[in-house]
Amino acid sequence: MQIISTIAELRTRLSNERAIAFVPTMGNLHEGHLNLMRLAREHGSCVVASIFVNPLQFGPNEDFDKYPRTLEADCAKLQNLADVVFAPSVNEMYPTQQTVFVEPPPIANELCGAARPGHFRGMATVVLKLLNIVQPQVALFGKKDYQQLHIIRRMVAQLNLPVQIVGGETVRAADGLALSSRNQYLSGAERAEAVVLYQTLQGLRQAILQGGRDFEQMEQQAVEALSARGWKVDYVAVRNRPDLQPAGPVQSDLAQCDLVILAAARLGNTRLLDNVEVSL
Ligand code: PAF
Repeated sequence: MQIISTIAELRTRLSNERAIAFVPTMGNLHEGHLNLMRLAREHGSCVVASIFVNPLQFGPNEDFDKYPRTLEADCAKLQNLADVVFAPSVNEMYPTQQTVFVEPPPIANELCGAARPGHFRGMATVVLKLLNIVQPQVALFGKKDYQQLHIIRRMVAQLNLPVQIVGGETVRAADGLALSSRNQYLSGAERAEAVVLYQTLQGLRQAILQGGRDFEQMEQQAVEALSARGWKVDYVAVRNRPDLQPAGPVQSDLAQCDLVILAAARLGNTRLLDNVEVSL
């Protein structure tokens, strides 16, 4: 495995590769990332991971400075999973002030975008830069960041990028909590409570599978239940999977419908995200 920090060196290293599978990350790798790396191996003969904490996708009061940077430990975990690790500096990625951005679709202002203005614009911009730098045939992203994956798919389709996007399933701790680099911010008590977010989503999923169709009321009840336990809820939302628009009541029990229930909520200072898919 090679660790490369400049774009020029990376381009030289990859110039003869014909089947690159690429996993962009911000480091602090956990089993969710490693799972994506294993999936990447099924999609390419050269597996590239990037580790870059992208300042453009953090708001002024967010955790950019505090975000865990663990390059050495990350590289040890990638040793047998990646062929190349691209770990550029901020200056390498943004040698001049970035003044050209990807304007993401309107959905970027909803859900996580409502609480994090500019986040998806910064995310889409760095993902486009990384795709242009690595030029992979396949790029893989976790489904835990469902809205991110949706926006990347839209960008790739509408900007005609020659790359196939693959979504990896969310990896969970034994109790069901979705793995995330931010979980380590949780205190012991918060960690014990954190699984309630997933349990809430599973409860909604069951209710929908059993015929529940008043999605707005279900969302409201879930927000109230979480708030009563001390969560600060950004949203709980039942959305149509293809476009992430609000799901209308499904008319007939036989109607075929692909839904996803998404949530973001804070425990103390830690913002947690999760989602579950439901197919009717
Ligand atoms: O999901 C992430 O870790 C980041 O948003 C990504 C896709 C690596 C872009 O910085």
